[in-house]
Amino acid sequence: MTASHDQIKFAYWVPNVSGGLVISKIEQRTGWDIDYNRRLAQIAEQNGFDYALSQIRFTAGYGAEFQHEPVAFSHALLAATTKLKVIAALLPGPWNPAVAAKQIATISQLTEGRVAVNIVSGWFRGEFTAIGEPWLDHDERYRRSEEFIRALRGIWTQDNFTFRGDFYRFSDYTLKPKPAHPLPEIFQGGSSRAARDMAARVSDWYFTNGNSVAEIKKQVDDIRAKARANNHSVKIGVNAFAIARDTEAEARAVLDEIIVKADPEAVNAFGHEVKNAGKASPEGQGNWAQSSFEDLVQYNDGFKTNLIGTPEQIAERIVALKEVGVDLVLLGFLHFQEEVEYFGRRVIPLVRALEAKTAVHAEAAE
Ligand SMILES: Cc1cc2nc3c(=O)[nH]c(=O)nc-3n(C[C@H](O)[C@H](O)[C@H](O)COP(=O)(O)O)c2cc1C
Repeated sequence: MTASHDQIKFAYWVPNVSGGLVISKIEQRTGWDIDYNRRLAQIAEQNGFDYALSQIRFTAGYGAEFQHEPVAFSHALLAATTKLKVIAALLPGPWNPAVAAKQIATISQLTEGRVAVNIVSGWFRGEFTAIGEPWLDHDERYRRSEEFIRALRGIWTQDNFTFRGDFYRFSDYTLKPKPAHPLPEIFQGGSSRAARDMAARVSDWYFTNGNSVAEIKKQVDDIRAKARANNHSVKIGVNAFAIARDTEAEARAVLDEIIVKADPEAVNAFGHEVKNAGKASPEGQGNWAQSSFEDLVQYNDGFKTNLIGTPEQIAERIVALKEVGVDLVLLGFLHFQEEVEYFGRRVIPLVRALEAKTAVHAEAAE
């Protein structure tokens, strides 16, 4: 696997749910309201971030007591910015692809093509039960997501779209207007066998939980080999919880405090739900299947990526991820506005400098 010559992209988690990104009683100077988020989006685009990802949650089973709906919320962030791309989560089941395709096409028209979608397949059974949605087995959820993605793409690119799936049917359907160009990119979240195979067939982007460079490399190699066989190309985004401080000791102390102040009841409740969802995948390798208590304090295993230390250490680790084929780093922070600004000012320029050096070496070798 060779690294891409493109610059690695940066995204941040939109805090459109309450309680921050770690299940801990440590102070998190992060708001979930729209004023905080508009300002955050502006800070992000002024400081080198390319994307923001908003989350879908219908009920809270652990923290995250209040949750704004991601499509409406993403549109508000797009209206407050000029360059940032905003990725709205969609959950097949509650969302129907005809409505989603039209909703996103309109937002794309209104924002010069800056909206994208993240198709999430669901892990929280209690949430589906609460809203009266049938809960499918793990791999069935991915079969449905794949049809959902094929339907979105078909509606966005074809006239007289006809599709006969097990979950969705379209007959001679023409969406007008279609989305603006570039077409909305289609991201997906999940790490199981079914998630990887779906990415290798239909998604533009594969988003995975945090992990070590070696473990991420295994996923990248697997997906890219399969995608090549399918004549498809897919980009890779990796989650990380960043703690960038002037000294490594300060950064490590913050991580220690997050863990010491973790809310055990909420972490265990979350762990119970997600491990059931992961183990439900036949091979037992889904997201969270290997997560420890400490890992679970950050919802998407963000500590495992180890972007914790000085700006220099973090920049080197990001370039190491790029070298195994990662195209985007998705970041969570304790104090979002302050830390997105610090990260953009202190870390991203170091990454760009390292990338430029690598590109010079690569050209010299070619
Ligand atoms: C970056 C990322 C973002 C996700 N966002 C959401 C979300 O907003 N809402 C949700 O219910 N699940 C979300 N998920 C969960 C996945 O869609 C999926 O259900 C979960 O990772 C379990 O997948 P697996 O068992 O196939 O690995 C996200 C996952 C990742 C990696």
